[in-house]
Amino acid sequence: MSFPKDFLWGGAVAANQCEGAYLEDGKGLTTVDMIPHGEKRMYVKMGDMYPVEMIEGENYPSHEAIDFYHHYKEDIALFAEMGFKTFRTSIAWARIFPNGDEEEPNEAGIQFYKSMFEECKKYGIEPLVTLCHFDVPMGLVRKYDSWKSREMIDCFTKYARVCFERFDGLVKYWLTFNEINILLHSPFSGAGISFKKGENREQVKYQAAHHELVASALVTKIAHEINPDNQVGCMLAGGQFYPYSCKPEDIWAAMNKDRENLMFIDVQARGYYPSYSKRLFKEKNIHLEIEDGDLEILKQYPVDFVSFSYYQSRCASSDPEMSMADGNVMKSVKNPYLQTSEWGWQIDPLGLRITLNSLYDRYQKPLFIVENGLGAKDVIEEAGTIQDDYRIDYLREHIKAMSDAIEDGVDLLGYTTWGCIDLVAASTGEMSKRYGFIYVDKDDQGNGTLKRMKKKSFEWYKKVIASNGEELD
Ligand code: BG6
Repeated sequence: MSFPKDFLWGGAVAANQCEGAYLEDGKGLTTVDMIPHGEKRMYVKMGDMYPVEMIEGENYPSHEAIDFYHHYKEDIALFAEMGFKTFRTSIAWARIFPNGDEEEPNEAGIQFYKSMFEECKKYGIEPLVTLCHFDVPMGLVRKYDSWKSREMIDCFTKYARVCFERFDGLVKYWLTFNEINILLHSPFSGAGISFKKGENREQVKYQAAHHELVASALVTKIAHEINPDNQVGCMLAGGQFYPYSCKPEDIWAAMNKDRENLMFIDVQARGYYPSYSKRLFKEKNIHLEIEDGDLEILKQYPVDFVSFSYYQSRCASSDPEMSMADGNVMKSVKNPYLQTSEWGWQIDPLGLRITLNSLYDRYQKPLFIVENGLGAKDVIEEAGTIQDDYRIDYLREHIKAMSDAIEDGVDLLGYTTWGCIDLVAASTGEMSKRYGFIYVDKDDQGNGTLKRMKKKSFEWYKKVIASNGEELD
């Protein structure tokens, strides 16, 4: 039996992709509320088109999403039926501080999350909560240009403090920023950043990242002060880069691609900018403004554990002409040995074992896989059943890889599959890219009854959890 007795099996969602109720009970607008489904989506997400206001006639998927805001009791009951030990979700910052910087928090927002976490506890489900998952309050974007500004550190730490105080005793596992490295690849959805003409984009992104890193360290400090039992993690959009060949230049390319993403985690887990960052900054003409005391803060308050999402491994080559494959957050060189999903994401269970081993070798801190899964189109049969064997196959192979990694010596806290209930896809805004064990009746245009239905994978995952990962067939 490779999985420890207290292994945290569960599923993950994020407020911005499932809650809906985008202006209810005093919530303010967030970045994701301004990202349309259609053609303009990519421009807004990449920071090339600042969304001053909503565009008439566009569909904004986050506004209703799957209306988890009003369905959470029903949904959590289904998670409990599967035997979840943990449930990962995020708090929408703008439910707590609608503009991001009010004097007092919004009590209705606090009550919503309190009641949701209590609902989890009722079933013995441990919440795992991300403080910022792709939704910066638009008030802060308008006032400060989001994380470009240092002012954000105070706003974020104040928000986090309120969460730690008000949800004390209900939540113990916290993540500061979802996929912190996504800021480099999708700046508006990652960190609320849009670019002005002529700006040195690299400078802007790394300066914003520095602000997030300092904020993350301060938040870790506050979490521990409020309750020493709190466990705070960082979160990486993971997936190891393989060299395309054994040509030394390809090995070097892969190493640098990994470093680009791991730099954030290096800071959060080890407490300092790695030595290679000097050269990276020099080559990109970046001059970080680091204030007195920042480096000490980073040093003193590293995270307790390292979490990451894993959908695929990646590949790098020194040849710029290689054909590319789509993937979570960033494209990478196509790996001829791998199959892909309907969205062109490469499928590589062994890559999960490799990623787990190399992250553990590097950090020697407990790891947590907080996202993994297959986005696929599901079909409802006449009898009302949904036979998602492709999803079961994908998850089974990844769970085996995880079990192998544990036997390799990796300290793994838990596993939350992404989108345990169907939700809006972050990249495309689609509903038809489904990850869930639970189907939600809603289409890409926003039509549907929102009715929930169990898929075949529901019973399968229930068995996996009940047997603590022993029964995978
Ligand atoms: C991760 C995000 O990047 O991948 C999630 O943390 C996201 O928010 C997930 O949904 C899967 O990506 P997509 O685009 O298929 O939703």
